[in-house]
Amino acid sequence: MSRYPTTAAEIAVDSRRVERVYAALARVYDGFFDWALGPGRRHSVARLPVEDGDRVLEVGVGTGLSLPLYPDHARITGIDISDPMLEKARDRARGLPQGPERVQLLQMDARRLDFPDDSFDHVLAPYVLSVVPDPEVVMSEMVRVCRPGGTVMVTNHFLSRSPLLGFVEKRFTPLSQWIGFRLDLPIERVTETSGLQVEQVDRVNMFGLWRMVLARKTGS
Ligand SMILES: C[S@@+](CC[C@H](N)C(=O)[O-])C[C@H]1O[C@@H](n2cnc3c(N)ncnc32)[C@H](O)[C@@H]1O
Repeated sequence: MSRYPTTAAEIAVDSRRVERVYAALARVYDGFFDWALGPGRRHSVARLPVEDGDRVLEVGVGTGLSLPLYPDHARITGIDISDPMLEKARDRARGLPQGPERVQLLQMDARRLDFPDDSFDHVLAPYVLSVVPDPEVVMSEMVRVCRPGGTVMVTNHFLSRSPLLGFVEKRFTPLSQWIGFRLDLPIERVTETSGLQVEQVDRVNMFGLWRMVLARKTGS
C-alpha cells in the first residue's frame, strides 16, 4: 500500500519534485486547469461569506485563477511555493480593479505559514492538498491563521468511496505522484481536522469527482 512520506528527507524530496513540476507547468497551467477545474473554483469562491473588508488567504494560489472571482471588497493574500506560478498570479492581479492594493502575493510554504494566529476571516486551499506531502500540517496551519468563527475551505479530489474507483485511484497514485499529486487522499484527513466544524460538502467538477469542504473554525 502506498503511504505518505513521513521523514524530513522524504518530505524534502517530495517538495522539490512539486516545485519542479510547477516551475515547468506555470506557462501552460491555465490552458488546461482553468477549463477542467474552473467550475469547482467558481462554486467554492461563490460560497465564501465575504463581507466588506474581510481578509482572505488563498493557500497555493498558483497562477491566480481565483483572483478575479473574489468580490472587489475582499482583501486577498495569496501564497505559493512556486515563484514561476506566482509571477503569473502577479500579472493577473495587476489587471484587477485596485489589484496591487487589494491583492498581496507572497512566496511561502503552506506548511509554515508566516502569519500570526487568527489573521484571516477566510482561508481556502483550492486543489492543493493532493500536491503537498503532509496535508495534516497544512490543514492545521490553515486553522491556526483563521480567526475563530471564520471559514476554512478545501476544494480537492479525494479518494473515492466506490470500491472499484478507490482501487483504481490507489493503484494509480504512485504514477500520479511522479507528476506531483496523489489521487488517494481520504476526505477524513480534511474533515477530521481539530478545531473545525464541517458545514457543507459539495461535489464539483466533471462527474462530481472533486469536492468542496466548507468548515468553520470553532471558538468565538
Ligand atoms: C494544482 S495547483 C492549484 C493552484 C490554484 N489554487 C488553482 O486553483 O488553480 C497547486 C498549487 O499548489 C502549490 N504548492 C504546492 N506545494 C505547496 C506548498 N508546500 N506550499 C505552498 N504552495 C504549494 C503549487 O506550486 C501550485 O501552484
